[in-house]
Amino acid sequence: NWKLTNYIERTVAEIKEKVGDQKVILGLSGGVDSSVAAVLIHKAIGDQLNCIFVDTGLLRKDEGKKVMENYGKHFHMNIKMVDASERFLSKLAGVGDPEEKRKIIGNEFVHVFDEESKQIEGAKFLAQGTIYPDVIESQSVKGPSAVIKSHHNVGGLPEEMEFELLEPLRELFKDEVRKVGEELGIPHELVYRHPFPGPGLGIRVLGEVDAEKVRILQEADDIFIEELYKNDLYEKVSQAFVVLLPVKSVGVMGDERTYEYTAVVRSANTIDFMTATWSRLPYEFLDTVSSRIINEVRGINRVAYDISSKPPATIEWE
Ligand code: XMP
Repeated sequence: NWKLTNYIERTVAEIKEKVGDQKVILGLSGGVDSSVAAVLIHKAIGDQLNCIFVDTGLLRKDEGKKVMENYGKHFHMNIKMVDASERFLSKLAGVGDPEEKRKIIGNEFVHVFDEESKQIEGAKFLAQGTIYPDVIESQSVKGPSAVIKSHHNVGGLPEEMEFELLEPLRELFKDEVRKVGEELGIPHELVYRHPFPGPGLGIRVLGEVDAEKVRILQEADDIFIEELYKNDLYEKVSQAFVVLLPVKSVGVMGDERTYEYTAVVRSANTIDFMTATWSRLPYEFLDTVSSRIINEVRGINRVAYDISSKPPATIEWE
């Protein structure tokens, strides 16, 4: 595709010109936008790019390992992985309110990122995977939706940091970002990942979050996502995940009575994430997912499927 190749060549040249021999810092999240931005910038300036990957402990199963594999090993990018899970979990201990949790996670992220970026001496630029719709959104008049969105992208530029911004995807729509990503050699599966909220599993473990609940949720979610891929359904839905309810119910396993948590399987179809319908996943498929989760994940003995549309429900549960 000549248009994309052109775009990539032009942008790489622009980045080289702008950055010169300076250092660039980028917060790599594993999501599509920051990953494509990273690979693009890396193509332009190689090891002058310093990526910081913060493991909040609220990521999907093995996410940190996968990011290091894909972008560290495969693309040879310079990535510092920071395991901050204990910090996040201890700040979250005993907090049940969703907005409070979002605030804590967002603030902690900025702290960790700030500390880590100070370790990278003499960095002049901060790169971000800002895309065109983000630019538009931040320019729009602040209304209630601005409040709802205020904590969406953890890892925004902290006020006191004095970096020059580098945002090579500012002119692109999501589908263009994906095409650029594929053109740059990022595997299809990574470029077509569903969106994942900044606060991560912190808002998918409903109510109070702890390490054990996060582990249970990671296992269950991993099974659901694996089955979606296996059955060629992943790209037919817009966003799919598991939610862990702080509700225990009675079940039976062998001749034992169990009393364990309830998992909710959520899958939404949407174009703009403003409205959404629940995915009409096949019963057989849901049956497989439910049996696997209950049989394989210690701590869950019941699975429900969320059949709510947005509005009035939201896609996430918190
Ligand atoms: P809702 O739940 O409002 O979600 O229907 C719409 C889309 O936004 C994502 N979302 C978030 N993303 N930080 C984010 O980065 C957040 O706090 C947040 N809350 C919701 C959600 O995953 C869905 O894609």
